[in-house]
Amino acid sequence: MCGIVGYTGFQDAYDVVINGLRRLEYRGYDSAGIVLDKKDNSFEVEKTKGKVDDLVAISHHLKNTAHVGMGHTRWATHGVPSDRNSHPHLSNDGKIALVHNGIIENYDTIKTMLKEKGFTFKSETDTEVLVNLIQYFMDTTTDIDFPTAVRFALNEVYGAYAITVMHEDHPGVLVVGRLGSPLAIGLGENEYFIASDASPFVEFTKEAIYLEEGHMATISLQNGVDIRTIKDNSKIEPAVQQLKLSLEQIEKGGYEHFMLKEIFEQPKSIHDTLRGRLLVEEGIIKMAGIWDHLEKFTNAQKITIIACGTSWHAGLIGEYLIEEFARIPVEVEYASEFRYRNPIINEKDVVIAISQSGETADTMAALKLAKERGAFIYGICNVVDSSISRITDAGSYTHAGPEIGVASTKAFTAQLTILALIALKLGKHNGNLGNAEFMSLISELNAIPKKIEEVLATTHDLIKEMAKDFTNTHNFLYLGRGYNYPAALEGALKLKEISYIHAEGYPAAEMKHGPIALIDENMPIVIIAPKRGHYDKIVSNVQEIKARKGKVIAVVNKGDVQVAEMADYVIEIPDTSECFSPIVASVPLQLLAYYIAVYRGANVDQPRNLAKSVTVE
Ligand code: F6R
Repeated sequence: MCGIVGYTGFQDAYDVVINGLRRLEYRGYDSAGIVLDKKDNSFEVEKTKGKVDDLVAISHHLKNTAHVGMGHTRWATHGVPSDRNSHPHLSNDGKIALVHNGIIENYDTIKTMLKEKGFTFKSETDTEVLVNLIQYFMDTTTDIDFPTAVRFALNEVYGAYAITVMHEDHPGVLVVGRLGSPLAIGLGENEYFIASDASPFVEFTKEAIYLEEGHMATISLQNGVDIRTIKDNSKIEPAVQQLKLSLEQIEKGGYEHFMLKEIFEQPKSIHDTLRGRLLVEEGIIKMAGIWDHLEKFTNAQKITIIACGTSWHAGLIGEYLIEEFARIPVEVEYASEFRYRNPIINEKDVVIAISQSGETADTMAALKLAKERGAFIYGICNVVDSSISRITDAGSYTHAGPEIGVASTKAFTAQLTILALIALKLGKHNGNLGNAEFMSLISELNAIPKKIEEVLATTHDLIKEMAKDFTNTHNFLYLGRGYNYPAALEGALKLKEISYIHAEGYPAAEMKHGPIALIDENMPIVIIAPKRGHYDKIVSNVQEIKARKGKVIAVVNKGDVQVAEMADYVIEIPDTSECFSPIVASVPLQLLAYYIAVYRGANVDQPRNLAKSVTVE
């Protein structure tokens, strides 16, 4: 969603904030802004529609003017992206500055009240309402101090937020608060950092406090970090964590885009996801989260998987895996639909939430509902200590490492890896999966990182070349059957997100029930056709497409003849068990989407209108 950076210390605040904003730009990038508490104790704000580079173009005169400041990179919720709607927002008296990530749901009521008291508003944002509410409490409450005014205001609003606030009369003090959106405080020597995640300060300190839900903190060099509950001002002892994140992990490492880097990281990220969990020689899957709650899973009346977007596609494959190997009924739900349709869910159910960011508001809201109804909640998250991982009863991290490109790639294949482990573990435990089959599947799963290495080595150049033929294409179809139907959905999503070409995924057999009407010589159809998995049926589907002159891009196993002979473009991948084939087949589809987008001149890492973590419902 939006990214927040704050700083108080001895360094040039402009540099710290701007560099931090660049690292957080993946969270939102339609506008950016900065406020500095200058050495003469006056505020200076610069903000603009556009990217951090646009902000730098209008603000570089602020370099070396301050040691305290904060900035924001925005993904618009209230009000279009514009200079006026960009953060920071100032209170009417010009003394209070605020940056905000999230949504204040009752902003309209508060705005009406403030207008009646004479406040005026320059923007359409909910944030400007909050900063003026703080001024209102400062103006109208006797002997109130700045943090208390922030606390009073936060107690009046509902919604989701992470905020940082500065006051001109309280130089060097940053007040932060969190409800539903993440905020980390970096503890340096004689300096403090604030950020939506730790990436802006990882090169300066490895110590951080992740602010908990409903907490706020007052931060200054004089008094350190004072954490309180927003509700009743109770003091909280800070829990300091050691960061494992390295600078290398959040830099591009020679790749043109994060997305390409992340695609190429997949042999390692899958290996990391398996490490310590899959002990092939011993024939064991060790997953503490599952192990401790095996009976919950195997006695579950059903498992419901909740997720959004790419994670939802992973969930669909999870359904196939768990039903095939553990024979436990599984339903996969869009979190946003589950939440609002009064689902049948109770204490006999297990709910698995899948989320790369662990912050997705729709998934979070669905989980809260499932929790209220007594279900056992299991999380599959990539971001350690994220909000979703905190509210689950148990879970497994994917260990894919930071994913910065907005289009999810390595997190998806890591999610599939975890789901495969869960399905095999449950199947083995409840006796649906015999030992011989289990042993053969786990050794195949263990071989997946090597197979992806092979895919990257053998298909990259070919796909890079082939993608040139599709730069002016307007529509794409993606087809697959069985396990590869969700892989087709995911391939289509990747293409549309980053290249803005319309693409749809379908189960291959569904083509004849409608989409076949779209097929002509201008329609490229990506068809995932590994040998294992309804191959004969796929052959017929390809024949149907060719009869209508569609252009077939076939993802087949090495040495394939039948489909390859009919296809216009052939991408060969190594053979693997059907259930793992979407992990391998997804990689060339990611590359195809990537190169088509690159040739179309799209901003691959920051596609228009999207943000990496969607923290509003
Ligand atoms: C697609 C993509 C989104 C996310 C979705 C859920 O490339 O990134 O569709 O998958 O917004 O996000 P998480 O997994 O963070 O809950």
